[in-house]
Amino acid sequence: MAKPRKTYTCENCQHVFYQWFNECKNCGHIALPIEGTETEDLTPKHSRVKGAGRVTVSRDLGDVEAGEFTHSPTRFAELNRVLGGGIVDDSYILLAAEPGAGKSTIANQLIDDELSKGRKVGIVLGEESAMQVRMRFDRLGLQARGVKFLTNEDNLEVIAATIAAEGWDFAVIDSIQTVKRSDITGEAGMPAQVNGCSVLLQDLAKNHHCTVVLIGHSTKANAVAGPQQLKHIVDVVLTIEGEDRTHYRIVRAPKNRFGPTDEIGILAMDENGLSDVVDGSLMFMSGRTEAVVGSMVCPVLQGNRVILVEVQALVNPAVGSAARIPDGVSKPRLQQLLAVLERHAHLETSTYDVYVRLADGLRVDDPGLDLAICLAVSSAMLEKPVGLDMAAYGEVSLVGQVRPAIGSARRESEAKTRNLTRIIGGAGITSINEALREAGMT
Ligand code: TYD
Ligand code: MG
Repeated sequence: MAKPRKTYTCENCQHVFYQWFNECKNCGHIALPIEGTETEDLTPKHSRVKGAGRVTVSRDLGDVEAGEFTHSPTRFAELNRVLGGGIVDDSYILLAAEPGAGKSTIANQLIDDELSKGRKVGIVLGEESAMQVRMRFDRLGLQARGVKFLTNEDNLEVIAATIAAEGWDFAVIDSIQTVKRSDITGEAGMPAQVNGCSVLLQDLAKNHHCTVVLIGHSTKANAVAGPQQLKHIVDVVLTIEGEDRTHYRIVRAPKNRFGPTDEIGILAMDENGLSDVVDGSLMFMSGRTEAVVGSMVCPVLQGNRVILVEVQALVNPAVGSAARIPDGVSKPRLQQLLAVLERHAHLETSTYDVYVRLADGLRVDDPGLDLAICLAVSSAMLEKPVGLDMAAYGEVSLVGQVRPAIGSARRESEAKTRNLTRIIGGAGITSINEALREAGMT
């Protein structure tokens, strides 16, 4: 901060005073001073900013041309939707999933996509041998010729310099847990190494125009292994979920600087690698052919799409304290909904063990599931089957009210096109008791 102040300069010796004088206290010259102003520097002498570095020049945001990120589509329509159209050039993507989810597989397929667009592509192999990867390429019918690879090299400075020198446009690093920097102490995969390597790869993406796909192992709860900082540095976090025993995989982008974060993509893993699931909205129905007890379909809203999800409930008289076993929904939420049923609908949920799961082990977070969970549990407790033409959605409040969750029109129209014509929820239902009556439970 600076403010102007008056100056009085001796015409003889040019000494500057801040008080008026008629005899210079410096040289003794007798004359009136030359008056002027100067800007006083009020920065404290101990300021760390002053002299901390060279001074640069800021620019005006108005001078920057606004454009759009160009998304380059991949072979997977489902992945393109999740990413907002495809992969943005020079972006830095973290691909995180549990071992066996299909990270290497999808990365190989993406390499093939980029290669066929005429890009220079390559892969850094820290986990698998070149032969293993070559065999996977052949098995999946991918083009191996033209794909560069680096192996037996864990020094990321060497790796990054090579990629930059060779001018790769698209690089897959498989994985962050197998590379390290020589200027940082500690083994590969340690937090300091993960951070340091991540910064170097960001430099590679931004300053050397190379899209970087960094593979990282995550744990069961889908937390990215290694420090959380990894998430903050990258442009996009892409996750793959799915159980080994089922062949479908759910792709999400919980962080996306270039597109949505709430879309899900449904892929299937078979002997030909990953492929789009065409009719994804019907994926999570168990294929019921008759009305069953403890099952209710919910039209779940994920991003711009409605997916029909079957909620399954099982109750059993509790021995000792009642167990609550959710799969796909959170435990506190299940506990809360059971308390609402007990309090407002007078169902004695507290004397039963309650199991609730979403078909196929799907994990989704949609407030609209509340009512379907309540009705599936009620159906199981009251042993009243739910008709095959019935679906339910709505948010259930602590005071037993039901509110239509957002996207009512889309939920209802998708349900109706799938022959779910009796929909409990929406504008007509305001309380849990009304919903139970409407579903034929009471
Ligand atoms: P992979 O991509 O190696 O997983 P990650 O890199 O995440 O550890 O794929 C792992 C699983 O996928 C493995 O169990 C085998 C299965 N798989 C298929 O079913 N079909 C295929 O075509 C491929 C390549 C893998
Ligand atoms: Mg792998």
